[in-house]
Amino acid sequence: MNMNRRAFLKTTGAGLITSAFPLSLVKIAFGGQGPSQDFTFGYISDAHIQQIQGNNFVRNWDMGLIRAVREANLLTPRPDFFMFGGDLAQLGKKEELDHGLEIMSSLRGKVRYVIGEHDYYLDLGEYWQSKIGPLWYSFDHKGVHFVTLNSILTYDSWVHKKWPSPMDRMLAMARLDNPQGSPFMVGGEQLTWLKKDLEKVNRSTPVVVFSHSPIQKIFKPWNFWTEDAERVQALLKPFEKATVIYGHVHQIEYNQIGNITFHAVMATAWPWPYPESYSQKASCMPKLTVHMNRADPFFERDATGWQFIEMRKGKVSMHYQLPDNKNRSVVFNSKTGKPQDVNYQGYGSRIPPQTHY
Ligand SMILES: [Fe+2]
Ligand SMILES: [Fe+2]
Repeated sequence: MNMNRRAFLKTTGAGLITSAFPLSLVKIAFGGQGPSQDFTFGYISDAHIQQIQGNNFVRNWDMGLIRAVREANLLTPRPDFFMFGGDLAQLGKKEELDHGLEIMSSLRGKVRYVIGEHDYYLDLGEYWQSKIGPLWYSFDHKGVHFVTLNSILTYDSWVHKKWPSPMDRMLAMARLDNPQGSPFMVGGEQLTWLKKDLEKVNRSTPVVVFSHSPIQKIFKPWNFWTEDAERVQALLKPFEKATVIYGHVHQIEYNQIGNITFHAVMATAWPWPYPESYSQKASCMPKLTVHMNRADPFFERDATGWQFIEMRKGKVSMHYQLPDNKNRSVVFNSKTGKPQDVNYQGYGSRIPPQTHY
């Protein structure tokens, strides 16, 4: 049944018109989903819309987001809602946020947003809040409690005292390999809010947290890291089913820490390197990362994508929609108690990087 669905999604992604399929096929592909409380949602992240000058924006980043929106609009039946995982803009400019929101406005359905560091460090979220909404919030949907965090805050002294201008601050935080950066964190005010928010939630209610940086410590020099991750994890510990979905790392990662399942989402803009490229020192990266061909400059969408997510009995199944790579699924395995790449490639069976001459 899952194969049918993946094949169907891949086909719709290729641009065929959904209504051309007989209704019975749709029913077969989506039948047997279990209790009526199970549902689906879409997830698009890290578009990095970048202004060159005036109305000129970097075409490749535009096209990544446009393609994700177009493919997501072909999903039938419709997902219950969509999330955008942060880094809508490259340098937090109004023009970039406006342009990104204009592209996102074609997405059919309710969309909620997570803020990323590229959206935040120019004006500290002021324009974002006026156009999109609060930087952290929670909501309930069909028996699941969802929490959206702003995980990319940092020390006041770094934010307010170090930089001659807001754009200098933005440029410093926008770098990947960044000796001038500062570790991301959720911070005391938000932790107090989160504690209060979760107090009213029954321990058997599934909880899903959306963040931009991982709420686990992967690699500090690139800020694949949240300084107070353990404090958030401690608040999630009492729950039977807790999942964290994060952007920022621009690659597929999955991990299990105690009761908490972690999933990363792909960027629509570009991929970041895999853990083998990181310095291993001071790093406690997830044990499993899904490998695919690395970025090939001859395919502008290589190693980018968006996500179709199923909530089944409170657990998350991630279906990665990858325009220039084979679609991948990472599904919670109740026997092992961990998420698992359903087509996990051992080292010997991985596709070697492309060579061009
Ligand atoms: Fe990003
Ligand atoms: Fe980011």
